[in-house]
Amino acid sequence: MKKIQKLAIIAVLGLMACDTQSKSDQKTEEMEVKQNDPHSYARADEAVVKHLNWQADVDFEAKRIMATANWDIENISGVDTIYFDTKNLNIEEVRLDGAEQASTFVLHPEEDILGSKLAIPIQAETQRVSIKYHTTKGADALQFLDPQQTADKTHPFLFTQSQAILARTWLPCQDSPGIRFSYEANVKVPEGMMALMSAENPTEVSANGAYKFTMDQPVPSYLMALAVGKLEYAKIGEVTGVYAEPSVIEAAAYEFAEMQNMVDTAEALYGDYRWGKYDVIVLPPSFPFGGMENPRLTFATPTIIAGDRSLTALIAHELAHSWSGNLVTNANWEDIWLNEGFTVYFENRIMEEIYGKDFANMLAILSYQDLLEEIDWLKSEGRLNDTRLKVDLEGRDPDDGLTGIPYDKGFFLLRLIEETVGREKWDAFLNTYFNNFAFEVMTTDAFVEYINEELLSENEAWKKSIRLEEWIFKPGLPDNCPDIESTKFKAVEAQLTDWKGGKEASTLETEYWMTPEWLHFVRLLPDTLSVDQMTALDEAFNFTNSGNSEIQAAWFEKVIPNNYQAAKVATENFLVEVGRRKFLVPIYKAILKSEEGKKRALTIYQKARPNYHAVSRSTLDDLLGLSKSQA
Ligand code: BES
Ligand code: ZN
Repeated sequence: MKKIQKLAIIAVLGLMACDTQSKSDQKTEEMEVKQNDPHSYARADEAVVKHLNWQADVDFEAKRIMATANWDIENISGVDTIYFDTKNLNIEEVRLDGAEQASTFVLHPEEDILGSKLAIPIQAETQRVSIKYHTTKGADALQFLDPQQTADKTHPFLFTQSQAILARTWLPCQDSPGIRFSYEANVKVPEGMMALMSAENPTEVSANGAYKFTMDQPVPSYLMALAVGKLEYAKIGEVTGVYAEPSVIEAAAYEFAEMQNMVDTAEALYGDYRWGKYDVIVLPPSFPFGGMENPRLTFATPTIIAGDRSLTALIAHELAHSWSGNLVTNANWEDIWLNEGFTVYFENRIMEEIYGKDFANMLAILSYQDLLEEIDWLKSEGRLNDTRLKVDLEGRDPDDGLTGIPYDKGFFLLRLIEETVGREKWDAFLNTYFNNFAFEVMTTDAFVEYINEELLSENEAWKKSIRLEEWIFKPGLPDNCPDIESTKFKAVEAQLTDWKGGKEASTLETEYWMTPEWLHFVRLLPDTLSVDQMTALDEAFNFTNSGNSEIQAAWFEKVIPNNYQAAKVATENFLVEVGRRKFLVPIYKAILKSEEGKKRALTIYQKARPNYHAVSRSTLDDLLGLSKSQA
């Protein structure tokens, strides 16, 4: 895209205050479509942060971080106050430009979702704002684990989860994806432990527990991350490697052996990997997500270590975010499909390159099944509007927008565009898109304008057949959603028909099945199963004790409503051990289906809850109908 067009789009974005003056001069009438972030108190067009120097001490005994955040700022319009987001932080002191005298500040009363606005009076020429603070028990991003909750059980562990708006619970920051900053950090942890951030990382344990980090590329606050534990590093390829606890490192290195290949493949598809290294850290099982795309260091659940490398699409996904999300970033959480939908699409392309079209198509069909189910569920909850790609989160927790819609509906829209314009043109478009908007934000409206101008204007028929606006701004699934066929899944369905016709489970032809085929099989099992049927399936395929967490979770969901006693203990162990929300929600829902299950769910939850991260706790408290005081 020509420079001049690019500037026009940036003007439409309207919150590019962190951009250069020349760009903000481009403001036009159109810019009034201003995209302010409803989830941040920061005023991006007035005074913004540019660089962070973070000095921190991690205290495992008190389970808190004591720190000073030294922010280099730019007072764009010469305002007298700069605003930060904080939540449950204890602010001790504020200083301007290293002055000896402490400065005044106002910490506003806490709002339910957003937390407390921190207002700091500044001068036109103020360059540095230093905030001394410590975290509290209410730091929802942080999970401090006792040794018992780790794989090795010898050392405690700490990890953060900042997305979407939890960075403010461990760092006073301008917590909006539209505001980027570079950073450096000095972090002190107990001797013998390793600290890692979304930055340039050590590969060895330091002698005195002191670590220094730098992240030269500007990143938004939701990508701020810290993990501390007894960790080791194993190199995988030229720029790739994995961190894990000593007892896990070997299995992790084996599982993720394709990582370097994935990076090379991704680069061949959509351009240079811009972040130097790409490592993964395997966290303890309470990590609430499958993965989190922290720059240079993906955080991952140990539940993807299946022993046979079959769940590594998740790594492809987090890696893909290095382009869609970390490079070109959703302007605010209402545009999250620009991060997640593009990433699921990119993930699928990486998987196709490495494992073939058949494999990628199976993943796509599973995603389609998820999508139909999600739309049905949201409809039944009276949340039809949340089935739109661009969602309305005003006054709501951004976590509410985190459904399967931005992922799966986003994926199918991009797949439709690919099928309509042809892969060659589409790939060229995406390459340019990532390049042009690297280290910048994107809004849904700007994207629509950009793709219409740069790609779809070439052919009116394309526009007509894609119906972009309907996909993005209307609820439900448009009737032109691509239909994906899989001969492999047809074969699975044939086996299932035989089984339903009386063929014994152990004699089914499943020899070459991979994880997606097993998932398809389990999902298609009838809702009502007899004890004999479940027992025979288990004897033949060992679903209940499968080492594959995805298969196990799908199986539990199926057999729980059928009151399958033999899976009770395994289900309970799974729920107590694993904190990954995507697994927990459907399993608890399945238990809750019966009257008697309601009591059982609560009993299990009481035992499991202390192991869960705040993100999972909050979802499950709601699901199980616990108010904050009861929980
Ligand atoms: N960035 C997300 C996780 C996330 C999104 C956390 C929004 C908080 C708010 C991550 O990339 C993700 O999508 N994880 C998925 C992976 C899956 C789709 C392969 C997960 O955790 O299940
Ligand atoms: Zn993602």
